[in-house]
Amino acid sequence: MFSMRVLWSRLPSVTGALTVRPPSSLARIAQRVSATTFHSRDTSIDYPDAGGSPEYKSMYQRSIDDPDTFWGLAAKKHLLWERPYDITSSVFLEEGFISWFHGGKLNASVNCVDKHIKLRANATALIWEKDEPGQEERITYHMLLSKVCRMANTLRRAGVRKYDVVTLYMPTMPEAVYAMLACARLGATHSVVFAGFSADGLAARINSSNSTHVITVDEGVRAGKILPMKKTVDEAVAKCPSIKQVLVCKRTGNPVPMGPIDLDMNLEMKNSRPYSTAEVMSSEDLLFLLYTSGSTGAPKGIAHSTAGYLLYASMTHKYVFDYKEGDVFAFFGDLGWITGHSYGVYGPLMNGGTSVLFESTPAYPDYGRFWETVERLKINQLYTSPTAIRLLLQQGDEWVNKYDLSSLKTLGSVGEAINPEAYNWYRDVVGKGRCSIVDTWWQTETGGIMISPLAHDKDTKAGAATRPFFGVIPSILDPNGNELEGNDVEGVLAIKTAGPGMARTIYRQHERFLETYLKPFPGYFYTGDGAKRDKDGHIWITGRVDDVLNVSGHRIGTAELEAEINSHPLVAESAVVGRHDDIKGQSVFAYVTLMQGTKHNDPAAEADIVTDLKKRISAKIGGFARPDNVICNNDLPKTNSGKIMRRILRKVAAGEYTEIGDISTLNNPDCVANLIEKRKKMD
Ligand code: PRX
Repeated sequence: MFSMRVLWSRLPSVTGALTVRPPSSLARIAQRVSATTFHSRDTSIDYPDAGGSPEYKSMYQRSIDDPDTFWGLAAKKHLLWERPYDITSSVFLEEGFISWFHGGKLNASVNCVDKHIKLRANATALIWEKDEPGQEERITYHMLLSKVCRMANTLRRAGVRKYDVVTLYMPTMPEAVYAMLACARLGATHSVVFAGFSADGLAARINSSNSTHVITVDEGVRAGKILPMKKTVDEAVAKCPSIKQVLVCKRTGNPVPMGPIDLDMNLEMKNSRPYSTAEVMSSEDLLFLLYTSGSTGAPKGIAHSTAGYLLYASMTHKYVFDYKEGDVFAFFGDLGWITGHSYGVYGPLMNGGTSVLFESTPAYPDYGRFWETVERLKINQLYTSPTAIRLLLQQGDEWVNKYDLSSLKTLGSVGEAINPEAYNWYRDVVGKGRCSIVDTWWQTETGGIMISPLAHDKDTKAGAATRPFFGVIPSILDPNGNELEGNDVEGVLAIKTAGPGMARTIYRQHERFLETYLKPFPGYFYTGDGAKRDKDGHIWITGRVDDVLNVSGHRIGTAELEAEINSHPLVAESAVVGRHDDIKGQSVFAYVTLMQGTKHNDPAAEADIVTDLKKRISAKIGGFARPDNVICNNDLPKTNSGKIMRRILRKVAAGEYTEIGDISTLNNPDCVANLIEKRKKMD
């Protein structure tokens, strides 16, 4: 089990062996613990205060020239090791062999909680901003340790063991953080499923990960509405033979039916000891899975490691946002997405910071919610999505100007491209022109921010993700995989390196990991995004180049939607594309061919099917994936080989009828006129 026994007798100046000096007495252990605690030595970091500055450039250069020394020093400084590692990195990208800090032993919950107890037991770790404003709850590091340990002991008693997968289906609340860290403490791998997924979506993810336990709540609360989460879990678990036990935390306290495999988490925790030993894990043991959508097939369980992920989350949190001790950091989004993991939980807690868990929405109880919360909690760094920014921009400046936002220092954007209008409003109206704006590009697969300015960077442009984080080599490739050198180039974005935070595999589907990310362009990690490097060398993300949609920052695979639509008994075939949406970035637009014999062009019959399909997607996947538009037609445009021409469908969805181009080579050119006619009726 984990004793705080550490560490290094010298820095890893080169890859390879390190001398370990075991401590000889308890006093020495205590001394070493505080000596290796991150913030106790933090002042020595040569911190770049301007992203475009020579400091950034020299640090970036060092990270590229000698990644092992760069990350090795960082790992020593930021992570609390039970045993030091032997080999800094071994990466063979083409076979998906990615290993960082081999031989090292540590525990993630110890790094996020116990590590801070000596220096900041009474500092606030979490502020829970509940759905109803003005009822926040503060959790200190000491309370966090006690809750995590009590929950870990409860889980252990419920049968959770090292390497089990535990699914979390929870709202954004402290219990979700306790659950993540309690799993980590036991060496179990957590798999958080966003609370917006339906019972079927949840069941698919439980079955794919072969989870043994589910942690959930009685009911969720969002924008004043009650969400029957335990009920959804009951429906899901009925289809999941691997589940042994369901642990139910209290959120509303309303009674919910409890069956033979259900346990009352609050009651069990009350009766559990507030100390729990922590499993000693290897650097490369999995910390968590997070399911995400791709262009084909079922959702993928993206798997992240322990040491590398923690290091990358903490470094990016600190450097990109210029997070300083005592700052209040807020990610206004859901813990169920990767941003919630890296910047709601692991990054801030690794850094001994204060993280705001925001349970509500930007519009509840009114459009001043974000700004009232910033004023009340004195938030210093705010991180949210362009969808939220665009929504609030449309409500006018008076909502923002009602509140004192002088605490804000860094404003972050994530999940989608931010359009210049939203960027400028964020900078000028919210940030009053004095805050740094960081447009951060990354993915579930990358674990943390990959391309972004650092706070204080003056050399930025509205809408540009700008420059790579330390250790990242972004490459722009032509369709043949040739690297486009120099500036003023546009192509597909691939990453030439696999830093410590990169995903290690797709859970139990390594071959799929290779096929999806590493085989398309050998020697590179393929992102699925397009990008350009402008004449000044700034990087801009141009959007997905594959069949993945981004609706309000939620990633949705068109193949997944089509599979659900096609399972409707009256549907013969379908094709889903994205359509530009001023608020959501993109909306789902579906084209459907009905079974022969079904009445096409009968508006009443079609309307019924469309309503049915929308309901079906909400029920099978989740409300966020519901199509805004559905067109039924007796045919879809196809090539001679039978391939659906999505390019044409995208143009029709966008209303760009004059830009459809040559359709004479289609197998069935006549259907395009019908589609246009139906589309025009939607305006
Ligand atoms: O298309 C990119 C878009 O979101 C995708 C990743 O989605 P997900 O794995 O759900 O992670 C979202 C949070 C990191 C990317 O492939 N994306 C993310 N950030 C940006 C972005 N597109 C443009 N600009 C961004 N800053």
